[in-house]
Amino acid sequence: MTILKNHWYVACTSNELTAQPLGRMVCDDPIAFFRTQSGKAHALLDLCPHRKAPLSMGRVDGESLRCVYHGMAFSGQGQCTHIPSQDIIPPRACVRSYPVQERFGLVWIWPGDPALAHGSPLPERPWMEQPDWNHDVVQHFAVKANYALMGDNLLDLSHVAFLHASSIGFNPNLLEQDPLQTHVDGDAVTNERVFVNTTQAPAHRAWHEFAGPVTRVQRSTWTPPANVTVLVRNEDDTQQVDMRADHFITPETEDSHHYFIVVSRNFKVDDQALSRQLDADTRAVHLEDVDIAEAQQRMNTRFPDVRAMALKADKAVTASHRILARLEEQEAGQAMPTGT
Ligand code: FES
Ligand SMILES: [Fe+2]
Repeated sequence: MTILKNHWYVACTSNELTAQPLGRMVCDDPIAFFRTQSGKAHALLDLCPHRKAPLSMGRVDGESLRCVYHGMAFSGQGQCTHIPSQDIIPPRACVRSYPVQERFGLVWIWPGDPALAHGSPLPERPWMEQPDWNHDVVQHFAVKANYALMGDNLLDLSHVAFLHASSIGFNPNLLEQDPLQTHVDGDAVTNERVFVNTTQAPAHRAWHEFAGPVTRVQRSTWTPPANVTVLVRNEDDTQQVDMRADHFITPETEDSHHYFIVVSRNFKVDDQALSRQLDADTRAVHLEDVDIAEAQQRMNTRFPDVRAMALKADKAVTASHRILARLEEQEAGQAMPTGT
């Protein structure tokens, strides 16, 4: 899939953006992220207009970012604020700046046409801001695969029984009478499986054990370009425990992406030992997904003309590809700012 630029993407976690600038490629643009002394996050093209030094190698100086090479300073809006060796600041002394906002403990960037950013809201995630939920587990993986491969993975729950057999998997025989339900609502695609009167997955039991059989709900909701919420619910007649894993996938290049995950839960919210265990357990699961996506990418590169084959269980993935194709076509018709 080609990169869609007119969307909000997660660039980094709020904790990653310290007093040091951060150089990171987003949607094929090298970008210098920095937090000014007053605490505001900014993003500039990582290219000093003087002699092309990466601005991310510089340092924050008050409300500006100062280039490491000859000390030119730039505001968060990309205007040059100081040239050490001269008084006059020429009009060319500026650098492209990108719309940025910070929410849910994440720094978001709009790599496309800035004029379209203002009317475009961030994905809605009310549980990520609810104080009675725990949000300790935040992960980031750099993945050498096209971003859409990870979106496919998260919409395709039939792999859980196999790829994640030892952790969050379930008995593959259950797939024989697969209760999979797929819904498409506008640009949102939902895949859901409800297993009634079943046993808990090994990992879920370790996090919160039920006395007997449970109803297990797995629901993935995808919205373009690749934001996926996975709800994992275990319930019986007396209680309902929910874990929501929010996955935000940011293209780095055509063949690589940044994969961010925030896990929220409504049970044992003050249990920090459980947070550490959840982090380790879910990290192991996500690494299995990273491994398979990178392996698929290697095969995609080796066999670019071989078309993937869709199965009945791939209805949601196919629907998401249709939406992406429409958005790609739409974006191809829009004028895009160039890198500089
Ligand atoms: S290259 Fe940045 S100030 Fe010279
Ligand atoms: Fe997976």
